[in-house]
Amino acid sequence: MRILVTADYQTLSRTAAELVAKAVRGRAEFVLGLPTGRTPLGMYAELVRMHRDQGLSFSKVRTFNLDEYLGLAQDDPNSFHTCMHEHFFDHVDIAEANAHFPDEAGNYEEAIRNVGGIELLIVGIGANGHIAFNEPGSGFSSRTRTVSLAAETMANAAKQFGSNAVPHQAVTMGIGTMLDSRHIVLLASGSGKAEVVRRSLRGPITEAVPASALQMHPNVIAILDEEANGEK
Ligand code: PGA
Repeated sequence: MRILVTADYQTLSRTAAELVAKAVRGRAEFVLGLPTGRTPLGMYAELVRMHRDQGLSFSKVRTFNLDEYLGLAQDDPNSFHTCMHEHFFDHVDIAEANAHFPDEAGNYEEAIRNVGGIELLIVGIGANGHIAFNEPGSGFSSRTRTVSLAAETMANAAKQFGSNAVPHQAVTMGIGTMLDSRHIVLLASGSGKAEVVRRSLRGPITEAVPASALQMHPNVIAILDEEANGEK
């Protein structure tokens, strides 16, 4: 695993966006796996800017989001659909039909296989070590499925949901699904992630820390800001 430590969140976001842009540019087709959460928002803003100012095109790109809550309408303000449209899809030239989200229908794995697999997967990390909604204890060979959210995950989401109830369940790519991606970029920002980053990247590989599975993948770049890296 390559670990890139950037000075701050802005540099992390720019570094991640440049990596995506470099991968996508000049390709007839490209398949991206994409996260939601707070961490990737700066990367999306930078990609939108590159689309606007430099003509970076997503017209040949297919995207597969990592996860989505169960029980929310697609246009619910708290759905990951809405988040992706607000921060990325509505501001670039991606075709609606090329932007995929997992749902209960259960054909996500097949849809990913049918386009030749994910070339580049971007992923954040939860304070409890989850990647996508693969909570601690998830199998390293798990596939896309319905999961129950950890109490800690629901508590974190509650800030965003305000007076609305946080869903108890979600559909998530599995850890096995994610590990099938040819390249993976992990993003982590802020001192609140330092401990879990240390356990995930430098600790033992264990299903108790889902992100530690990334140590088994041959092509991972972790982009951390100095606070998330934690080491002085
Ligand atoms: P965050 O979420 O980017 O909002 O910290 C990361 C995650 O839970 O995967």
